[in-house]
Amino acid sequence: AAPDPLDRRGRPLRDLRLSVIEACNFRCPYCMPAERVPDDYGLDAASRLSFDEIETLVRGFVRVGVRKLRLTGGEPLLRKNLPELIARLSRIDGLDDLALTSNGSLLARQARALREAGLRRLTVSLDALDPDLFRRLSGGRGEVAQVLAGIEAARAAGFGPLKINCVVQRGVNEDQVLPLAERFRGSGDVLRFIEYMDVGNCNGWDARGVVSTRQLRDAIDARWPLRALDAQYRGEVASRYAYRDGAGEIGFVSSISAPFCGDCHRARVSADGRLYTCLFAAEGSDLREALAGGETALAERVAALWRGRNDRYSELRAADAPRPKRHVEMFLIGG
Ligand code: GTP
Ligand code: 5AD
Ligand code: SF4
Ligand code: SF4
Repeated sequence: AAPDPLDRRGRPLRDLRLSVIEACNFRCPYCMPAERVPDDYGLDAASRLSFDEIETLVRGFVRVGVRKLRLTGGEPLLRKNLPELIARLSRIDGLDDLALTSNGSLLARQARALREAGLRRLTVSLDALDPDLFRRLSGGRGEVAQVLAGIEAARAAGFGPLKINCVVQRGVNEDQVLPLAERFRGSGDVLRFIEYMDVGNCNGWDARGVVSTRQLRDAIDARWPLRALDAQYRGEVASRYAYRDGAGEIGFVSSISAPFCGDCHRARVSADGRLYTCLFAAEGSDLREALAGGETALAERVAALWRGRNDRYSELRAADAPRPKRHVEMFLIGG
């Protein structure tokens, strides 16, 4: 077999983040603001890759080096018959990891079926515990109690430790940080705080809205002392800490204050089969034609695109260097 392709910065392709649907039942203002994205927004179902196409696509990506697959959305649990897709993907040789990121609102009903289908890991987004604030942050669509019930159901269905993602925005949900930390301390689940990023173009991002990892870590450490942990693998997105009192682990994703492009082994594919080689890319490359030629044709096309990749958006931002202004919307590629 040919060696795995490297991009122009010497990085292999190891992780695939695949959106199975562009629609979402939430309208988080930082991702899909309701005034910009109508209720009936979405592709017609026929423009989404079919399960056959998705399976071929993933097999093709495995051929060029992918070992880790994460399903995303929009909200992936809105995709019809998702457990059937997961069952098919979990049988692919060469994949070491199969995970999914969800807003958690539909999880209570689906956790068991997802687990039985072979899903290994789950990440749930949770930006607030306060019910009113949560409602506001989901664009008036979500109830925090439902998400907490989803998390419970996932534990009961046998998912190991979950990851819980919280995007922190200054003046919006900063006051939720300590309550969230308190709630998930000792739960076995791993809470991660994410710096608010300039993804997409419709959220009106402003650097003043970012709360840095350093600030959050200091605030948590002052209350419950922390100790830094080593990364579990090269290129791990979150920096990890343990509570010194043994109450488990917590993480921080610092894309703004400490970019991690140097080890970025991630590719993203939208529900309609476009490849994005960076979270901040403006354009994707359509993979459908290659996909129609089967696994090998797809693998060759992806390898060619990957070899041309030179992305390092977050590093350019940190250096205040010229960088693309237009970005694909987060809900099309799942973050
Ligand atoms: P595991 O290590 O498999 O648990 O996955 P992960 O840490 O990548 O988890 P997750 O998908 O939950 O990523 C956490 C968040 O980090 C994402 O939702 C994004 O907001 C951000 N993120 C992930 N990958 C990238 C990336 O390549 N670049 C940037 N700038 N942010 C990223
Ligand atoms: N900055 C940081 N994280 C974001 N997410 C969505 N939009 C942004 C943003 N602008 C997060 C979601 C979810 C993950 C998929 O990406 O909250 O946890
Ligand atoms: Fe939906 Fe997630 Fe975007 Fe919120 S962040 S609108 S839950 S896709
Ligand atoms: Fe990878 Fe782009 Fe994120 Fe850098 S900004 S880590 S290149 S996805």
